[in-house]
Amino acid sequence: MDMRLILLGPPGAGKGTQAKLLAEKFNIQQISTGDILRQAVKNKTKMGLKAKSYMDQGKLVPDNVVIGIIKDRLDNADCSKGFILDGFPRTIQQAESLSQALKQMEIDIDHLIDIEIGFDYLIRRLTGRWTCRECGEGYHKMSNPPKKKGVCDKCDGELYQRDDDKEETIQKRFEVYRKETEPLKDYYQKNGKLNAIKGDGGIQEIFSRITNLIT
Ligand code: AP5
Ligand code: MG
Repeated sequence: MDMRLILLGPPGAGKGTQAKLLAEKFNIQQISTGDILRQAVKNKTKMGLKAKSYMDQGKLVPDNVVIGIIKDRLDNADCSKGFILDGFPRTIQQAESLSQALKQMEIDIDHLIDIEIGFDYLIRRLTGRWTCRECGEGYHKMSNPPKKKGVCDKCDGELYQRDDDKEETIQKRFEVYRKETEPLKDYYQKNGKLNAIKGDGGIQEIFSRITNLIT
């Protein structure tokens, strides 16, 4: 079944965690601008070197860079059966460019899901997060630990703590979210596509909330 989804939500809401589960269940591509940018940083590409200073400060990478990434990615044949956007769009300009690109491709988004959760929860989630250096899989030292400490269950890659998961950078990311990304809720509400789900509870519980909503 073709399925095109957007996941919205603050840093640590569980976008990446849920996107991976949804991608597996529906056999569609997960497109995470954060993951793509971190790969570019790791590979020290020109884009990665430019993006790193923004990411380390908890700021957004300029719109033209991420919009370019998304257009390239959506053009790829593996997206023809569907995709799930995780961490994009994050500004009104990104949302408008996305809608233009989709129009040109003559496709539409089926569901926009906003994961709602308070910032107090998120600090704990982000400071306890471990991420795989190879495949980007996310873990949590308490709520979602890997089978073997420091090693990814999926690909045996090394787990690390993201540079932007320090408390002061997290606060900056929340501030940027409030200012730049939260207005997207109103923007999408107007075209009647936005559905909010509660982001508290266990990973499987939230996954059920999302799948109930979209199937
Ligand atoms: P990005 O990588 O997108 O970071 P983010 O939005 O801050 O979101 P996170 O990845 O931190 O959280 P998440 O919602 O994916 O949560 P997760 O599932 O990991 O962006 C990073 C940076 O890249 C940005 O700051 C910016 O600089 C740049 N960037 C990216 N996209 C951009 C764009 N479009 N425009 C401009 N710049 C962009 O879960 C968090 C933790 O909680 C994990 O440890 C997980 O195991 C755990 N967890 C998840 N669900 C639960 C649960 N239900 N219960 C308990 N624990 C849980
Ligand atoms: Mg993420």
